[in-house]
Amino acid sequence: MDITQFPSWQRLNSLACRMQGRHLRELFAEDPARAARFSVELPEFLFDFSKNLIDDEVFVNLLQLARDADLEGWRDAMLSGAPINCTEGRPVLHAALRGGLPQPVVLDGDSVDAQAAAELGRLKEFVNLLHNGAVTGCTGRRITDVVNLGVGGSHLGPAMAIEALRAYRRDDVRVHFVSNVDGAQLADTLATLDVETTLFVVSSKTFTTTETVTNARSALRWFGDLAPRAELLRQHFVAVTAKPERAIEFGMAPQRIFRFWDWVGGRFSLWSAIGLPIAIAVGFDNFRALLDGAASMDRHFRETPLEGNAPVLMALVSLWYCTFMGYPAHAILPYEQALHMLPAYLQQAEMESNGKSTTRAGEEADYATGPLIWGMLGINGQHAFYQYLHQSPEVVPADFIGSATPGHALPGHHEILLANMLAQSQALMNGVGREQVETELAAKGLAVDEIEKLAPYKVHRGNRPSNTILLRKLDPHSLGALIALYEHKIFAQGVILQIYSFDQWGVELGKGLAAALQPKLTSGDASGQDASTAGLINYYQRVTAGAAALEFAG
Ligand code: F6P
Repeated sequence: MDITQFPSWQRLNSLACRMQGRHLRELFAEDPARAARFSVELPEFLFDFSKNLIDDEVFVNLLQLARDADLEGWRDAMLSGAPINCTEGRPVLHAALRGGLPQPVVLDGDSVDAQAAAELGRLKEFVNLLHNGAVTGCTGRRITDVVNLGVGGSHLGPAMAIEALRAYRRDDVRVHFVSNVDGAQLADTLATLDVETTLFVVSSKTFTTTETVTNARSALRWFGDLAPRAELLRQHFVAVTAKPERAIEFGMAPQRIFRFWDWVGGRFSLWSAIGLPIAIAVGFDNFRALLDGAASMDRHFRETPLEGNAPVLMALVSLWYCTFMGYPAHAILPYEQALHMLPAYLQQAEMESNGKSTTRAGEEADYATGPLIWGMLGINGQHAFYQYLHQSPEVVPADFIGSATPGHALPGHHEILLANMLAQSQALMNGVGREQVETELAAKGLAVDEIEKLAPYKVHRGNRPSNTILLRKLDPHSLGALIALYEHKIFAQGVILQIYSFDQWGVELGKGLAAALQPKLTSGDASGQDASTAGLINYYQRVTAGAAALEFAG
């Protein structure tokens, strides 16, 4: 049944009008137990969602909406291996990679858990050999630098996790990432490396992504005539892919191919062999702890009733804003240097999943399905875009993410950092009223007419909602739990809003057009293009032809 037809949906629509007129200050004043009631404490973190524009009635109806959408049924279907990614005819089983399924799943006669465990065993063996110096380049020198060539899910997850776990990094091997087909990134990276001690990890689920394959070809050329092609590929390259046959076609040595499967979405793949750079950077045991942390969140998601289920609550709050209250964006604001890539990672995870407008019934959704996700390190954002968060007419709900334990030993810093995080969510919630502004200006000795002029600019309406996730400590286990929290949130939101979260057809159109336009740029033949594109091709031709003529003349 169409989700918009349920009484809970209709009730939430009218409650949204009512809540527009409420202020978070009042909600807290009315209910001293609010913070305790609207927070969930897990072994890894405290999730405080009390600073949201919800009251009991909204909460009850949001939970009812989740039940009307049969969220629990969809969750169980996903975790039992049902093909819930219907447009691609696939199950969604990234939880299997970390031991997060309630019972074994068999697909086409193969045990998913056994496949995952076997590949993880191969990964462990390779990582340990590399750390022991037994993985060498073709001149016999040990590998000291690993370059991941991959984009999207084959880049962001591992890169984000390695940054997040910087305190756990080994110092005998460095991991680099090249995602961009702009040769500048690869050239800059190669300039710092030694051909004899470098290993490339070509990470691509499909093994057809132009950016990655182009970078892999250029990386291979970088070795020049150090050794024959097959030997270079055997000693200096590994592949991670769900299409091993394509990697073999490229020339990859079969024993250097780590695989994952169609039932792992690219943006949910860091738990698979795509996580190889993580295990290389922080050691296999820490990678295992990351998986275990995610598995503990899987358990929480499967077993906890909806009213205390952190990812479900996050999803409900998120859809409350984007779908009912009309707030189209959501900011991710980590107050932990190591989590600086989390906003970029979540952009892909959430927006590629829920940025859709066709419902499961194949109809146009006439409601918003997910917010625009953006953000950066909160402390830097304070000196950049927080002005907008505090005083723009637009309301942007936010997630504040911090850690109670510092990841360094410098005294004094951490309290300043956390005080800023708490202050910002408090300021966004409470704001400052006209009366208070006037009193403060008067106390500073301003004349009445000066106060009158200045006061409007200093008023903050407040009433800007946020979640706070305060980790006990950022470590491999809690990072796993945090990422899985968001993964399940994304899934729950998609289920309730009746969209398919695990496909990404919207990224295909541009890929096809780029392939068609590439020869046009070379030939300069802009026929058949729209006037804007033709103009840009012509300009490119003029500039490059001019540069070529100059070079010839010189
Ligand atoms: O273009 C989007 C996308 O398909 C993502 O979903 C994926 O993570 C990324 O490209 C990379 O794809 P692949 O791992 O197949 O190279």
